[in-house]
Amino acid sequence: MSFRPISTWRSAKEFCTWSSLSNMAVFECPSISSFAHWRRTARNVRSASSFLGQVRMGTLGARAVRGAGGLVIAQDPQTAQFGDMPRSAVATGLVDFVLSPNRMPEALLTYPWHPYVRGGEPEAVLEGTGKPGGLQDILSLVMTQRGRDFRFYKKSMVLRRVERRMGLHRISDVARYYDLLRQDTDEVTQLFKDLLINVTSFFRDTEAFKDLRQKAIAPLVRSKQADEPLRIWIAGCSSGEEAYSLAMLMMEEITEVRKNCPMQVFATDIDEEALEFARQGIYPESIAVDVGPERLSRFFIREDQGYQVSKSLRKSVVFTVQNLITDPPFSKMDLISCRNLLIYLDTDTQQKLIPLFTFALNPGGYLFLGKSEGIGGLGRRSHWTGRNILFYPSKEKGGITMPD
Ligand SMILES: C[S@@+](CC[C@H](N)C(=O)[O-])C[C@H]1O[C@@H](n2cnc3c(N)ncnc32)[C@H](O)[C@@H]1O
Repeated sequence: MSFRPISTWRSAKEFCTWSSLSNMAVFECPSISSFAHWRRTARNVRSASSFLGQVRMGTLGARAVRGAGGLVIAQDPQTAQFGDMPRSAVATGLVDFVLSPNRMPEALLTYPWHPYVRGGEPEAVLEGTGKPGGLQDILSLVMTQRGRDFRFYKKSMVLRRVERRMGLHRISDVARYYDLLRQDTDEVTQLFKDLLINVTSFFRDTEAFKDLRQKAIAPLVRSKQADEPLRIWIAGCSSGEEAYSLAMLMMEEITEVRKNCPMQVFATDIDEEALEFARQGIYPESIAVDVGPERLSRFFIREDQGYQVSKSLRKSVVFTVQNLITDPPFSKMDLISCRNLLIYLDTDTQQKLIPLFTFALNPGGYLFLGKSEGIGGLGRRSHWTGRNILFYPSKEKGGITMPD
């Protein structure tokens, strides 16, 4: 543990008790095994704080906490017993504050009072919408510096994220926050990362993945000739967990029915850092909870800091930068998985993606969406084969062939 001295630790504990009354949570020293718990807890809180210790584990924990809109603090490496740990955590770009232990309680105690944490409408940002230095100017600045256009995203999500950043800087006037962004490119990067929200996990929503195997992957594998490739596209794959989960399911099915069809898995995202993480395929021990012992021994290699995806599984997935909204799509796909991305896009943009998915899918292909996602107009209810799985009707026959 790199969080010292004990008096500060006690303050954090006291804060934790107090904060449970105000919809807050404090994530304490991240032992490896606590990360699954972090992730689960982080989903349910508006605000959380994390103390980063172990480097890689810290990265995933920080991503989960940031994704849930929480606060991430790393100890100032100068004050740490083992400075490399917080230094690497800071290098991930996911840390909100780098502080010496004696300054942490202040950060923890002032953050909850900001309107963002206390809930309700993001008033400061709403007030500035349309005015000089308001939301439009902020998004233009992000576009200029990071080349990504967040005007296609749900306004409520964007407002919340901007207000979160304002809360961290204790700024309540949006024009002042815009001034800060103009002066500080690091702050633009931080806002950009908040807007991406790349929380993920292996087999996220276990039941949906079981359904997918039974209702989509099994019939697809059965329908393939020995040398005919099975093609999958994971759009918005974040740090790779979903892409590897699907590759595992496919390998299992192919082995079970003794088919030899090659697998082509394309995984895309706009976050280059998340993709680099995905390519390395090293994950913390806590993934054992989501992956399970059998798959862990078949598809992973034990490492000092956790598990690395086996070389053969890594080789089967190609990770590439791609903007789903503006870049050309892939084609001739048997399955497209686009989970927990559409919920962040505005309705018009969701609608515009319908022809893109239609174009990219083979006749009889499948679209796998997230738990609370659907796209109006993309297939009538009868085309849904199960939880979040849309069976795309045959383009050639013009009719709908429902799978078994
Ligand atoms: C909440 S994560 C979902 C990850 C994974 N699909 C899952 O369900 O666990 C959303 C991901 O979508 C990515 N994303 C956001 N906008 C995107 C876009 N326009 N094109 C491609 N990826 C995008 C983000 O970078 C992030 O990694």
